[in-house]
Amino acid sequence: MKILVVGGGGREHAIIAKISENPQVEHIYALPGNGGIAELAECVPIKATDITAIRDFAVEKQVDFVVVAPDDPLVLGAVDLLEEAGIACFGPDKKAAAIEGSKVFAKELMKKYGIPTADYAVFEDLEEAIAYCDAAPHYPLVIKADGLALGKGVLIAASKEEARADLVNIMQERVFGESGSRVVIEEFLSGPEVSVLSFTDGHTIVPMVSSMDHKRALDGDLGLNTGGMGAVAPNPYYTEAIAAECMEKIYLPTIRAMQSERRPFKGCLYFGLMLTQRGPRVIEYNCRFGDPETQAVLPLLQSDLLSIMQAVAEERLHEVEVKFSEDQKTCCLVLASGGYPQKYETGFPINIGDTGQTQIFHAGTKLKNGVLCTGGGRVLGLTAIASSLPEAIECAYKAVEKIEFRGKFFRTDIGQSAACLE
Ligand code: AMP
Ligand code: GLY
Repeated sequence: MKILVVGGGGREHAIIAKISENPQVEHIYALPGNGGIAELAECVPIKATDITAIRDFAVEKQVDFVVVAPDDPLVLGAVDLLEEAGIACFGPDKKAAAIEGSKVFAKELMKKYGIPTADYAVFEDLEEAIAYCDAAPHYPLVIKADGLALGKGVLIAASKEEARADLVNIMQERVFGESGSRVVIEEFLSGPEVSVLSFTDGHTIVPMVSSMDHKRALDGDLGLNTGGMGAVAPNPYYTEAIAAECMEKIYLPTIRAMQSERRPFKGCLYFGLMLTQRGPRVIEYNCRFGDPETQAVLPLLQSDLLSIMQAVAEERLHEVEVKFSEDQKTCCLVLASGGYPQKYETGFPINIGDTGQTQIFHAGTKLKNGVLCTGGGRVLGLTAIASSLPEAIECAYKAVEKIEFRGKFFRTDIGQSAACLE
């Protein structure tokens, strides 16, 4: 089989590593891929957002199956174009991807179908949004741009003044572009956060092993929000009882709601949950695998990933086994370029020594005259597997010392809050 994977980050490297284990796979194309993916796949410089070029390429190469991994091509309708051309895909179509593409759509869906989430209000008018915040009895408030914003469109306002400034930035200055034409203003919730990725074909839903992301740049959850600085799996806060409650109150109601709205969701549905005193609440949905959660979760998958993805595409997920290791834990550390998520330099050679049993997933790397160099904010992810979380963490931190590049920067506390629960 010829497989095409759209995307070029650590998540895509982890997906391609798993897919390449299937003996039926003869060739993998990655669009655009990266310096590490190049060892497993043919990387072709087509941008993940250029969905017509992706469709044309898939047709020309007579690709058998496409995995669309990032949010933007999904929200733009890459799967619709590919399916119209008769190519089987893993990923939701445009109508279903709105669950991530519009926060207003997601909130209204949850309200209509009684799925637990933070209370909220929606505004299209700046003055009305400001008046609402001025009258709000409690702070902080959470202000979210409606559309995609590279994971940066969520602001926590501690006071009326901050709320006003945030609203002006989003709705008037348009710091997140058109995504800021509408905002969701919601109640601030607190509690441990859990990421649950799931396979769903629109009828059946199979959650994967849970995980914990670390979104802030600095130790102690300080600093700016990033795409994610590390993840551990499973997440020890997510007990069997909580998993059962989420299945009943969140996962099944969500896929049924999408069916009722005639937007059946097929692909990986990501539930960003907060475990509050009043029970689990949905913080966000994503229409795709998380990054770096995927690099922590997929190494624990024992079943064949490509077979699961095909079963999702053919709406027969109930027929296949989805088995994860039950006694292993993972820790994924992200190595970033100094300065990320703000300004950083790239183009520095990367030296990878003996990292033992860990798996390395490339994110922002590129080959320059055959030399592996840094090429982005998040450069590499390094995943260690062990029989306990403290061991996985120790192993990952030992291996990190064997990787060198100028400006190498990582958090030193990934998984600590999880490990102390074990
Ligand atoms: P999102 O991009 O929706 O995942 O939001 C980014 C981060 O903002 C989340 O991981 C949470 O830490 C935080 N956040 C989002 N919504 C809320 C909320 N209602 N209450 C508290 N924190 C939130
Ligand atoms: N790590 C969070 C995300 O992928 O959205």
